[in-house]
Amino acid sequence: MDKLIINGRKKLHGEVEISGAKNATLPIMAATLLAKGKSILRNVPHLNDIKMMAHLLRVIGARVNFHDNVMEIDTMHAGYFEAPYELVNKMRASIYVMGPLLARFGQAKVSFPGGCAIGTRPVDLHLKAMESLNSKIEIKHGYIHANCSKLEGGKFSFDKVSVGATANMLMASALAIGETNIYNAAVEPEIGSLIDFLNLMGARIEGKDTSHLRITGVPELEPADMEMMPDRIEAGTFLIAGAITKSEITVSNCIPEHIQALIDKLEDAGCLFEIQGDCIKLFPPTTIKPVNIVTQPYPDFPTDLQAQFLTLMTLADGQCLVEDTIFPDRFMHVAELNRLNANISMRGNIATINGVEYLSSTELMATDLRASAALVLAGLAAQGKTTISRIYHIDRGYEKIEQKLSGLGADIKRISG
Ligand code: EPZ
Repeated sequence: MDKLIINGRKKLHGEVEISGAKNATLPIMAATLLAKGKSILRNVPHLNDIKMMAHLLRVIGARVNFHDNVMEIDTMHAGYFEAPYELVNKMRASIYVMGPLLARFGQAKVSFPGGCAIGTRPVDLHLKAMESLNSKIEIKHGYIHANCSKLEGGKFSFDKVSVGATANMLMASALAIGETNIYNAAVEPEIGSLIDFLNLMGARIEGKDTSHLRITGVPELEPADMEMMPDRIEAGTFLIAGAITKSEITVSNCIPEHIQALIDKLEDAGCLFEIQGDCIKLFPPTTIKPVNIVTQPYPDFPTDLQAQFLTLMTLADGQCLVEDTIFPDRFMHVAELNRLNANISMRGNIATINGVEYLSSTELMATDLRASAALVLAGLAAQGKTTISRIYHIDRGYEKIEQKLSGLGADIKRISG
């Protein structure tokens, strides 16, 4: 297994370009199953999760070519309806094929996802949403079996905002008979991007960026060609890298409004910004001020930046609280950060962070994707050499992270295991 070795406390400088968004690309890859023929996705990041979804599409019978960040998916011969345990077990986003398979073929068999490092993560909302479109759901031998003769439009109000269940319902209802209304839908930019792709395929979806989506089902969809949007979580992680190393850096090829909640909190922490078009220049604080955060659905502070922001706060001048309301157990990074001399205590889903003067390097173990990013940030700021093992987690969601950080002047290298 590869490791990352970081010699900390190097100032960063220059510009880093953001890659395409993993969490926008995954549902769009699944959506290509709704049509027969070749869709083309551009600006696709080379990440393990993306390769895993490509593998799943191949299992379903699609042909997938992926070169130079361009992915061609030909679904002409897709016809196998199962997402097997071996894949769902490794990547929960495999559940995104349920809606498209059900809509195009009238059946889907998807391994029931278990818990993961960030919590129990139920899928009840996905299932209720599919049922509301006139499909029958049964759980047998660890698999979700979804069947319908033809999906029919319906009304569904989510009890809780769910990005994944909104995406699944959008994909399924695009081919349903009649009109579907989704209330309390997720408004994350990745959902907006899926709506753009579905509408390019010929779907009729109104209400983008609002919590009420109206879908008028169409009899068939065409393949489409679209550029994937920039990854807001990668952009946010690099801004925090600038702040924690007290460095002036520019993050380019991003959509600043997608990370406004982070920018606001970094301003409270003492950072200044110059924003022009798709570039954000960060001017770091001399002293990091303590700032409380509470994660909430978009446009509030994202759970996917909680671990990274909490890491910044370990070096703040005072005490603050970090609460995760989306994934209350997503705090595996806390124990590792405390091994670096951080002072964090947990009570339920709230971390109390008492800022320390310095982090002191040691050997660390990555536990999940964003926790790994947090450990890398800690390593950049810590005195001495930090070694991070199990970094396959980071390769799921950060394209060329060590090359990008080296490009900014960090002393970071990967050791192949
Ligand atoms: C997506 O996960 C992202 N994954 C996650 O990013 C992200 O953390 C999350 O949205 C929240 O923004 C992808 O896009 C592939 P949810 P998802 O359904 O769709 C509860 C990363 O690091 N819930 O919006 O699975 C759930 O437990 C990953 O890139 C139910 O109760 O998240 C949570 O409390 C990790 N029942 C809340 O809703 C359900 O059926 C929001 O989860 C579904 C969800």
